[in-house]
Amino acid sequence: MTELKNDLLLRALLRQPVERTPVWMMRQAGRYLPEYRATREQAGSFVNLMKNPELACEVTMQPLRRYPIDAAILFSDILTIPDAMGLGLHFVTGEGPKFEHVIRSMADVEKLPVPDPEAEMPYVMDAVRTIRKALNGDVPLIGFSGSPWTLATYMVEGGGSKDFAKIKAMAYGDPQAAHALLDKLAQSVTSYLNAQIAAGAQAVQIFDTWGGALSGPMYQEFSLRYMQQIVEGLNRENEGRQVPVILFTKGGGQWLEAMAATGADALGLDWTTDISQARQRVGDKVALQGNMDPSILYAPTGTIRQEVKKVLDGFGEGSGHVFNLGHGITPGVNPEHAGAMFEAVREFG
Ligand code: CP3
Repeated sequence: MTELKNDLLLRALLRQPVERTPVWMMRQAGRYLPEYRATREQAGSFVNLMKNPELACEVTMQPLRRYPIDAAILFSDILTIPDAMGLGLHFVTGEGPKFEHVIRSMADVEKLPVPDPEAEMPYVMDAVRTIRKALNGDVPLIGFSGSPWTLATYMVEGGGSKDFAKIKAMAYGDPQAAHALLDKLAQSVTSYLNAQIAAGAQAVQIFDTWGGALSGPMYQEFSLRYMQQIVEGLNRENEGRQVPVILFTKGGGQWLEAMAATGADALGLDWTTDISQARQRVGDKVALQGNMDPSILYAPTGTIRQEVKKVLDGFGEGSGHVFNLGHGITPGVNPEHAGAMFEAVREFG
């Protein structure tokens, strides 16, 4: 076991004292980087890239070579689980992810397996092990999964959606089928994240990208409850260290108290939530991660620096803050602007 040289992220997520605010960025390995686009070209497609542990390791490391970042995040995708369940993931240029098979009924749900992560998604666990070696203890590695609700939206819609008509029709019209699907996904996500932790992930984040599309009562019943089931089933210690768990519901700013009550260590905030008010609401229950609007990276670097400072000042003194964007960096951003953000967090944090 190599010693971890920079454990600021892990300490901040556990609300332990830190010398400065750690920073990483959602989608830090991605299309805004020319070196990422070159590696994806070499792989032939995004799915090939994601299923090749050496190349997944390469793109995970790329942003760390450019910027002062306090964590690596596994390069993969949330749609590995539905793919391993047999749905047939592919990407259509300009349209995003698509599945060959969709889930529409209880009969479809009953046929779905709960995948064994090491047997069915070995490329993910191999990527985790390969990245840990490459990191050599410099910074911690974050593993991740989609939330059951977010995965279910793709599985029922067959791809991305604007109105979530089919999954909502199932949740309201055939709630038994929706719950059976979400329960299978919660079991799958729990064993998937536990396998990532066993392979070497030092913190994990659950991406509930579409939880914010639900009403409050529906969020509790169809998203949060299954994330709580996962949090309760995770192995929270490995290699003699605690493994912090981060919950991120985009559009979930109204529900922070309920999210904090799941037992997660930290909550990811999107940019629509005021971070100082969020801190008052959750108190010392959880750490907070976020939450600069990713669009600010299109502004001049002077503006980016000011906005970084606003987020840091908004959180205020004391530990329990991890700087991040409120959602993933977008492909059109100039890489130098991301650099200005990282430098500003180092300077002011
Ligand atoms: O944060 C990171 O750097 C880790 C890598 C990561 C990717 N996807 C790589 C990726 C993570 C954490 C994800 C999660 C993910 N995937 C989410 C939840 C995250 C969030 O931001 O809320 C979702 C909803 C997906 C599903 C998905 N995968 C979509 C909607 C897309 C974009 C499709 C498109 O064409 O715009 C993907 C593909 C994807 N995943 C890319 C990357 C870098 C781009 C693929 C490419 O290179 O063309």
